[in-house]
Amino acid sequence: MHMTPHLREAATDREWEQATALLQRVYVAGGYTAAANAGQFMTRENLEPAGVLLVALDGEDAVVGAVLLLHPASALRQLATMYEREFRVLGVDERARGLGIGEVLVQACVDRAFASGAQAVVLWTQPSMHSAQRLYKRLGFRRAPERDVKDPRGFTRLVFQRDL
Ligand SMILES: CC(C)(COP(=O)(O)OP(=O)(O)OC[C@H]1O[C@@H](n2cnc3c(N)ncnc32)[C@H](O)[C@@H]1OP(=O)(O)O)[C@@H](O)C(=O)NCCC(=O)NCCS
Repeated sequence: MHMTPHLREAATDREWEQATALLQRVYVAGGYTAAANAGQFMTRENLEPAGVLLVALDGEDAVVGAVLLLHPASALRQLATMYEREFRVLGVDERARGLGIGEVLVQACVDRAFASGAQAVVLWTQPSMHSAQRLYKRLGFRRAPERDVKDPRGFTRLVFQRDL
C-alpha cells in the first residue's frame, strides 16, 4: 500500500508537539536513543533554530512522520560542508510504516537541497537502522565509508551521500 502524505513545514504548537513526541517515541522504542537524550535533543527549543522540520500529516492532520533538514550553517551539522546539506532525526510512526512516508520526507530534503544549490545531501545512520539504509539506497544515496566516524556509544556512524 502507498499513501501520499501531506507535507509541510512544522509551524503550529500542535505540529511541533506531535512531531517531537513522535521522534522521541520512535527513537526510544527502536532502541536508538536513550530516553533522557531524546528528551533533551528532540525538542522544539533545540531543533527549531537548527533547520526546517518537515512533517507528514495523515488525513486527520495528525503528524505521522518528520525530518529535520538542517540550515546550511546549522549548529547541529555533523557532516555537511558549506556545499552540502544534511538532515537529521528522520522518523515515521510505527503504525504508518511501509506506506512510503519516509521516502516522501527524504525526497523532499533532496529536492530542497537541490533547489538551494547544494552539491550533495549527507546523513549518518546507526548500523541497526536497516529500513532507513534500504530507503537511502533506493533514493540514490551511496555509502561514503571514508566519512564514517565512531559514535561515543560504541558503534560506527554510517555515512550516506547523495550527489546532486
Ligand atoms: C526509516 C523509516 C523512516 C522509514 O519510514 P517508512 O515510511 O516506513 O518508509 P517507506 O515506507 O518508504 O519504506 C520502508 C520499508 O519498510 C517496509 N515495510 C512495509 N511495511 C512495514 C511495516 N509495517 N513496518 C516497517 N516496515 C515496513 C517497506 O516495504 C520498505 O521496505 P524496503 O525498503 O525493503 O522496500 C522508519 O522505518 C523509521 O522511522 N525508522 C526508525 C528511525 C530511523 O531509523 N530513522 C533513520 C535515521 S538515519
